[in-house]
Amino acid sequence: MSSENKLWAGRFAGATAKNADLFNDSLPFDQALWKQDITASIAHAHMLGHQQIISGDECSSIVAGLESIYRDIESGSLIMQGAEDIHSFVENELVKRIGDAGKKLHTARSRNDQVATDFRLYVRGSFDATTDALAGLVKSLLALAEKGTKYIMPGYTHLRKAQPMCAGHFWNAYAEMFLRDLDRIADSRVRMNIMPLGSGALAGTSYTINRFMVADELGFERPCDNSLDGVSDRDYVCEYLFDGSLIMSHLSRLCEDIILYTTEEFGYFEIADEYSTGSSIMPQKKNPDIPELMRGKTGRVYGHLMAMLTTLKGIPLAYDKDLQEDKEGFFDAEKQVISCVSIMAEMLGGISYKPDRMAKAAEGEFCCATDVADYLAKKGMPFRSAHGVVGAIVRDCIQKNKTLQTMSTADYKAFSDLFEDDILEVVKGKNCAYARSSFGGASPLCVRENIQSIKKRLKAYE
Ligand code: ARG
Repeated sequence: MSSENKLWAGRFAGATAKNADLFNDSLPFDQALWKQDITASIAHAHMLGHQQIISGDECSSIVAGLESIYRDIESGSLIMQGAEDIHSFVENELVKRIGDAGKKLHTARSRNDQVATDFRLYVRGSFDATTDALAGLVKSLLALAEKGTKYIMPGYTHLRKAQPMCAGHFWNAYAEMFLRDLDRIADSRVRMNIMPLGSGALAGTSYTINRFMVADELGFERPCDNSLDGVSDRDYVCEYLFDGSLIMSHLSRLCEDIILYTTEEFGYFEIADEYSTGSSIMPQKKNPDIPELMRGKTGRVYGHLMAMLTTLKGIPLAYDKDLQEDKEGFFDAEKQVISCVSIMAEMLGGISYKPDRMAKAAEGEFCCATDVADYLAKKGMPFRSAHGVVGAIVRDCIQKNKTLQTMSTADYKAFSDLFEDDILEVVKGKNCAYARSSFGGASPLCVRENIQSIKKRLKAYE
């Protein structure tokens, strides 16, 4: 790049080294900010004109010039190259198109408050796109939960069978996680929607600018209250990366459960062929590459969060070039998060239940043992004692190759007089799941209530 393209060339006798340019330039990646850069510049020009810092004619010509650049980049006829960064590129192009008036655009502005503003606009859009994708994912989960209200499956702790539950409960649990992600993003968005423009390089400006007018045009809540903080704050980048990391963590857990429950060994659900892959050598294979890859991408998004936090650590106020490192990791993280959320929503649409496998599994391995202990406790035996009695029953069953369902009333009575014929109904998996009707529990009724509550809370994001 020749030195006349540089916004700061006046101070220097010679050109920068080619490798120094290559190292320093951000245009190859910050061109992603072109829309935000032009939009913010138009708002800045409107304000300069309104405040009579530039003339009305100069303002109109700058705005028309910027609009023509916008159109040409959008149509692909203007290629973004030959400048240090997107801000230099747009300004150089403006001066090429409208001459001296273009040189007035940078009045009362620095690239420091400019980039901080452009990037905030960009990240605000990322929060919004992520919200839309998450709302779609919660809907997919709700659809599965609704279908699942008629089925039962075993619930697990320590990945060992624990208690039977209505299958919808499982999907609702993930819907709750992603609803929290939606709330978290909404919180972050409120905090970040503050405008740095007008902070100048670091200390404000001596021109009679009107920052409230610009904030209003750009949809910010208000201008920032401290110019030093304004140009150096990247908390919102960290917040997106954290919110995104937690989304990835939730997705990764869901992936793991889907991978597990679709194995030959579990076989509770099936992934549709459209979202499955095969093996180049083993003809029988139906592999879960999509959820595996998603689980794998989680580490990469966490990495971007750690990188950003580390970049920010210990840099002095206000702007330092370290801050240019805020972009590439963010762009990658945003792409991974939004594409993972969207593909998960699609893949869930193709998940089918295997109700017989789930129902059988829900009675196996003494999954109903808690209900037997509760049966005794409800008849007056202290729960701890009941726990001991049922522990002995389980041990006896294992020895004699029996199950809680194949034991007779007489077999039960041998362990406690409190047992009556109705114990044979109590130990049916379905009845155990239906009995868990405490608020927030796993009975079909509770699951339906949970679905209604999720739908209600989701409305804020549709
Ligand atoms: N490319 C820079 C960035 O992304 C723009 C701001 C440059 N400001 C400066 N004083 N060098 O952070």
